[in-house]
Amino acid sequence: MLKKLAISAVAALTFAAGGAMAAGGESHIEDVDFSFEGPFGTFDQNQLQRGLKVYTEVCAACHGLRYVPLRTLSDDGGPHFSEAQVRAYAAENFEVYDEELDDTRPAKPADFFPGSNLENAPDLSLMAKARAGFHGPEGTGLNQLFKGMGGPEYITSILTGYTGKEKTQAGTTFYENTAFPGGWIAMGPPLEDGLVDFDDDHANDLHHMAEDVSAFLMWTAEPKMMARKQAGFIGVFALFILTVLLYLTNKRLWAPHKGKKTA
Ligand code: HEC
Repeated sequence: MLKKLAISAVAALTFAAGGAMAAGGESHIEDVDFSFEGPFGTFDQNQLQRGLKVYTEVCAACHGLRYVPLRTLSDDGGPHFSEAQVRAYAAENFEVYDEELDDTRPAKPADFFPGSNLENAPDLSLMAKARAGFHGPEGTGLNQLFKGMGGPEYITSILTGYTGKEKTQAGTTFYENTAFPGGWIAMGPPLEDGLVDFDDDHANDLHHMAEDVSAFLMWTAEPKMMARKQAGFIGVFALFILTVLLYLTNKRLWAPHKGKKTA
């Protein structure tokens, strides 16, 4: 019976692997050790601040973050700017349309980030989660489970995965990319070494910037991750205590009947 089960499990996995391989071109996702991985991982506040800078100076030209309220930039567990900094950042960087004024005005913390400026550039608010589950070794999703590889790794890999080759098809230019499914993406390489300068002179080569903006986009997609992990930990801990208590109770209940010879 067990043997039969094992054989069918292996067969199912092989089929799944084969199917996934046949379905898409091989996309290469690089593993990155992000600070927020694992059951106790937390966002690195400085990294989120750098990532926001990369987003604002580069990605925001095309991509929006319309599900993210600007005020959350001061939240605990996020980039954690002061409220005054958020007010200044919002007013300096974004204009929003105000129905009451029937005009645009500088953004306030109570507003959301604007949407995408470019029609075919997807909104990035939830991108890190939208792309979290679709890869792994041969599309099984196992890498995500065991290595924590998911959306942020995918975004980093896209940003660093350009080969330099281009082609034009029906008037659109496509850029060869080793991470993008299908191998050709309509987004030109947005980052290059030294493009954004950080206040603390933090490394600003392509790879570091790609990781920073990916971490930031993980935060926009799951701003409450840290609180969720904490609640999960407390839950597991409570269940553990309960298990121990039940075990002891059980032993005690049956103690009079154990070790007794019947008849
Ligand atoms: C010049 C405009 C432009 C800029 C700047 C830009 N992008 Fe894009 N991006 C696009 C377009 C267009 C697409 C859609 C590409 C496609 O579907 O082939 C895209 C797609 C994406 C995708 C989605 C890939 C997928 O799986 O669908 C991600 C992630 C992404 N961009 C991240 C970024 C990040 C991060 C930055 C800043 C570092 C950035 N982009 C800067 C235009 C831009």
